[in-house]
Amino acid sequence: MNLEVEIGGLKLRNPVMTASGTFGYGEEYSGFVDLNQLGAIVVKGISLKPMQGNPPPRISETPCGMLNAIGLQNVGLELFLKEKLPFLRKFDTRVIVNILGNSLKEYQKISEALDDAGVDAIELNVSCPNVQQGGIMFGTDRKMLGQLITGVKNIVKNTVLITKLSPTVSDIKEFAKTAEDSGSDAISLINTIPGMSIDINTRRPRLKNITGGLSGPAIRPVAVRMVYEAYNAVKIPVIGMGGIMNADDAIEFFIAGASAIAVGTANFVNPEATTGILSGLIKYMERENIERISSLTGSLDIG
Ligand SMILES: Cc1cc2nc3c(=O)[nH]c(=O)nc-3n(C[C@H](O)[C@H](O)[C@H](O)COP(=O)(O)O)c2cc1C
Repeated sequence: MNLEVEIGGLKLRNPVMTASGTFGYGEEYSGFVDLNQLGAIVVKGISLKPMQGNPPPRISETPCGMLNAIGLQNVGLELFLKEKLPFLRKFDTRVIVNILGNSLKEYQKISEALDDAGVDAIELNVSCPNVQQGGIMFGTDRKMLGQLITGVKNIVKNTVLITKLSPTVSDIKEFAKTAEDSGSDAISLINTIPGMSIDINTRRPRLKNITGGLSGPAIRPVAVRMVYEAYNAVKIPVIGMGGIMNADDAIEFFIAGASAIAVGTANFVNPEATTGILSGLIKYMERENIERISSLTGSLDIG
């Protein structure tokens, strides 16, 4: 049985990854999960300087999911390189660093340092406002997205570049194509969907930030549809995520077109969700006589 997959030239021992922001810097989960068993660990989004994030409450449970407005709290590039990366390097797994910035220069500075440090891949979180161009999100304007990807691609020498697409666009296929044409080695999707929840007794928003990002099973059908559309629009590999709670959910994403999958909100419900999903995948492959997991990718039968 072969579980190996390839993401833009990067070989993963299996296709189970963590979703950024839901697995800390790996260390937080290392008491629950043998990190060596994961295909890749994607860490919380890193910015040039440390960020405190939003004031609480910044998490609220919803039917079939959760809203979060963490506000991209993170330790910043310097501390990540000094403390978090050396810890992750002790494990035999791929390290993918999710990054964010408010200008192309910021993305480039972070990417250059991570490339020098030899991380396996960089995942661009493009759901950030571009302060130099009126605060429009990089990920919702195709021209800006293309410039960002090309600008980072020109800086990195060895590191695989993954672009994490925002679901808040009218046509995901166009954005997937822009990522491919601009030099991205792979795409990942989806990020959270903007949402809001109100306590009717206090009439106050449940999040201090008022709005937040919706994740969990509630968004899964949206994510599966977008993975399917993106897969059919580009040749580069697609990493699927959004509400994957168990192996069956993960398999849906492979059939829709994902080469690998990432587990997010499920980690909060069950810290061992990732390894449980891996065991479930192996059982499914045994049952269905599947030799290579990669043969599942895009195997949708539309009759
Ligand atoms: C608490 C929390 C923090 C997150 N932080 C980030 C982040 O820093 N960068 C990023 O690109 N996505 C972030 N995400 C989005 C997830 O990586 C993932 O795309 C999304 O939650 C959908 O997957 P899920 O439904 O399995 O959680 C975060 C999600 C949650 C719930």
